[in-house]
Amino acid sequence: MMGVIKFKSHRENNLVQLTHSMPPAKLEIFKSLETWADNNILVHLNPVEKCWQPQDFLPDPKSDGFYDEIKELRERCKEIPDEYLVVLVGDMITEEALPTYQTILTTLDGVKDETGVSSSPWAVWTRAWSGEENRHGDLLNKYLYLSGRVDMKQTEKTIQYLIGNGMNPQMENNPYLGFIYTAFQERATFISHGNTARLAKAHGDIKLAQICGTIAADEKRHEIAYTKIIEKLFEIDPDETVLAFADMMKKKITMPSHMMFDGQDDNLFENYSEVAQRFGVYTAKDCRDSGVAGVKMEGRKAQDYVCNLAKRIRRLYERSQILRYGKKAETHRFSWIFNKEVQL
Ligand SMILES: [Fe+2]
Ligand SMILES: [Fe+2]
Repeated sequence: MMGVIKFKSHRENNLVQLTHSMPPAKLEIFKSLETWADNNILVHLNPVEKCWQPQDFLPDPKSDGFYDEIKELRERCKEIPDEYLVVLVGDMITEEALPTYQTILTTLDGVKDETGVSSSPWAVWTRAWSGEENRHGDLLNKYLYLSGRVDMKQTEKTIQYLIGNGMNPQMENNPYLGFIYTAFQERATFISHGNTARLAKAHGDIKLAQICGTIAADEKRHEIAYTKIIEKLFEIDPDETVLAFADMMKKKITMPSHMMFDGQDDNLFENYSEVAQRFGVYTAKDCRDSGVAGVKMEGRKAQDYVCNLAKRIRRLYERSQILRYGKKAETHRFSWIFNKEVQL
């Protein structure tokens, strides 16, 4: 008999999914931008030989001091609160679902990797970007493993479920939507890793602060590249780009790990997000203050749109504040930290 694969059922699965919404005539635009991308986007990649690697931040297994280093790591990590761990595990799991993100980027018309070794600068970027991103999940995963504070089997299960479930960013194979979405996500991860760095320092784990800060710097560099692409699109095709922007905002930028599941908690993503918000790691306020701020746009239409957007995000933030402070405190048990209870 075949085993039953039980994934979290999601309403997304029942939605009509739009595909290939970019008019085929626009393919030419991305083709014509290849030289530009070569000169302006690939420069934001770091050569592998100059990149940091997870091992630079972890106890060295071939050194005599290996076990002492692990002991030190565990000692430092003792002061880290459970709420922080929940947020960091959630962030790590989000990074670990990288296969999903690379898959989606390689479905974008006009910029996809047709062969797996395509020499188009769009494809070169996506592969190398994935290679850079891959270090984020690796490093956080290994650090959390060594800390001894996390139920590794539960977090590993969550990663497997998440990759199996996929995600629904509603990009429609449309590179306008895809690049706008990804710029937002790089911004969001820059802010959240920056916040976990700040909080790790506040709780006395300087090494962990360094790790999160280093990852945040990568996200910033990626954000700059994706934002440059959007600016270029605004310059050469403002109408389509504004429409894509409006469309993406209407869809509210679904977070990449919204389909996470640990085999137990049907509201795992919502609960993790609650803890992150309460702990000040990522909030609607950050979203309000960021994102579009970095995009320079031409034209009144675009400016009007962004002004209205800022108002909308502010309302969203205010609503979340009411929800947060209007209800009484609740707690929740997370399997990731051995079912310990944390405040939502
Ligand atoms: Fe990342
Ligand atoms: Fe990123």
